[in-house]
Amino acid sequence: MANDKVWIIDFGSQYTQLIARRVRELSVFSEIVLPHVKPAEIHDNRVAALILSGGPASVYDKEAPDLDPAIFEMGLPILGICYGFQLMSRHFGARVHSENRREYGRSNITLLQKSPLFKGVPDRTTVWMSHGDHVDTLPTGFEIVAVSENLAPATLVHRQKALIGLQFHPEVIHTVDGTKILRNFLFEIAGLKGDWTPGRFIEQSIAQVRQLTNGGKVLVALSGGVDSSVMGVLLYRAIGDQCVPVFINHGLLRQDEQFEVVRILKEDMGLPVRKYNYSYSFLKALKGVTNPEQKRKIIGREFINAFEDIASKYTNLKYLAQGTLYPDVIESRSVKGPSQVIKSHHNVGGLPKRMKLELIEPFRSLFKDEVRRIGAELEVPVNILNRHPFPGPGLGVRIIGEITPHRLNLLRKADSIFISEIRASGDYERVWQAFTVLLPVKTVGVMGDQRTYENVIALRSVNSSDGMTADWSPLSYPVLSRVANRIVNEVRGINRVVYDMTSKPPGTIEWE
Ligand code: XMP
Repeated sequence: MANDKVWIIDFGSQYTQLIARRVRELSVFSEIVLPHVKPAEIHDNRVAALILSGGPASVYDKEAPDLDPAIFEMGLPILGICYGFQLMSRHFGARVHSENRREYGRSNITLLQKSPLFKGVPDRTTVWMSHGDHVDTLPTGFEIVAVSENLAPATLVHRQKALIGLQFHPEVIHTVDGTKILRNFLFEIAGLKGDWTPGRFIEQSIAQVRQLTNGGKVLVALSGGVDSSVMGVLLYRAIGDQCVPVFINHGLLRQDEQFEVVRILKEDMGLPVRKYNYSYSFLKALKGVTNPEQKRKIIGREFINAFEDIASKYTNLKYLAQGTLYPDVIESRSVKGPSQVIKSHHNVGGLPKRMKLELIEPFRSLFKDEVRRIGAELEVPVNILNRHPFPGPGLGVRIIGEITPHRLNLLRKADSIFISEIRASGDYERVWQAFTVLLPVKTVGVMGDQRTYENVIALRSVNSSDGMTADWSPLSYPVLSRVANRIVNEVRGINRVVYDMTSKPPGTIEWE
């Protein structure tokens, strides 16, 4: 089989995941790896081309992430973007310096000569710049193909090798011809075919899982969410009875969720799922805990305890499969990577190190919409594919402060009213994710002639394509007013409803 995969080396740019996505949109499979990757790994993984991402550092910073210089000599096509470009230039002997006149935001570049990289691109085009460093002297063997408005090199191309440096970001939509430039790099320069489809992904994953598990059993943790359900179907197709599909009630589920989900998994999807109830141990471990990261870590630990307990009932059960997605990985990333930890997503950063089961995460490099496409290909029912995301730690991150059975009860009732109303209004399909959050503040109200002093519920509704960024989504006044009225009237213990109008960034989607 020909090499057909692109690795994107992440130097910490906020756009790294966008590069991966754009490449896959061009039907080439891409994965993101960290800068300490070795030439042997690149070779063994049959990587066809590399893209070096941008990053916040300057190549001369003491702590600046670096790359094994042997990688530049492997003969692979390499596209360096911003920081990646400066790193490559420095390797080939250029001087890089920080300029006073930094170029940020929209800018124009002018092409000085023809290059397959700019096939179909006009001689002057708008690009998105976001770096202060510039390449000052030409790296050996390179020539300038495009310049920026202040005449700095915007694109350098090696005369003989497939090495290209861009001072701007082709992955960002503000770079008008960005997709064309990426396409030209992949197909005209790196000679890739662009035949990656959800079907190919399924085939490759099935082969990999069969090879990896080699007859061993796999605990498949299903939550009823899109990711784990699609993964369950994929694994069941790959290894059949080697799968041990389980649904864990951790006590942080929504109203009636355990019954509905198990029914759909069994009856509509044919997965022989078994239900286990660990709610007592989860809630006991969470008693008195208010810190969000501590809650996430405890929930992660309790999940592992539950998985290991279940695993001990089977012989030859060695693996744990989880539907971890790329945004979970990036936002939970620890000090090893160049980006900051935002939250410890339970299925990544929240897992304790001592876990005995080996992890299988087939969607680790994918975004949610890509998983939905794979699910459609696997004929996963639409009512599962269109479900709003629900976080692994469940209602645990939607109760601010301590989690108690009483608070869970309030939140379940409020959430069920909100969701049933937006289903009735047709908004459920229109928004990406909607839910309620219980705030541990009490406010004064009046009902009938009685003074009330009760809790507050916040409504959250967002639109997003991958959960990495999101806009708060406006719901109509009649819908909001019906939801607020019903919650205050039907949920004893709630006397106020507020609406969260924060986008991500600066907020996150969940409140904890
Ligand atoms: P945040 O709150 O980080 O959420 O903006 C982004 C998306 O991820 C979901 N989420 C999680 N999913 N395990 C998951 O499987 C988690 O620990 C977790 N935390 C947040 C969240 O619901 C949103 O869709």
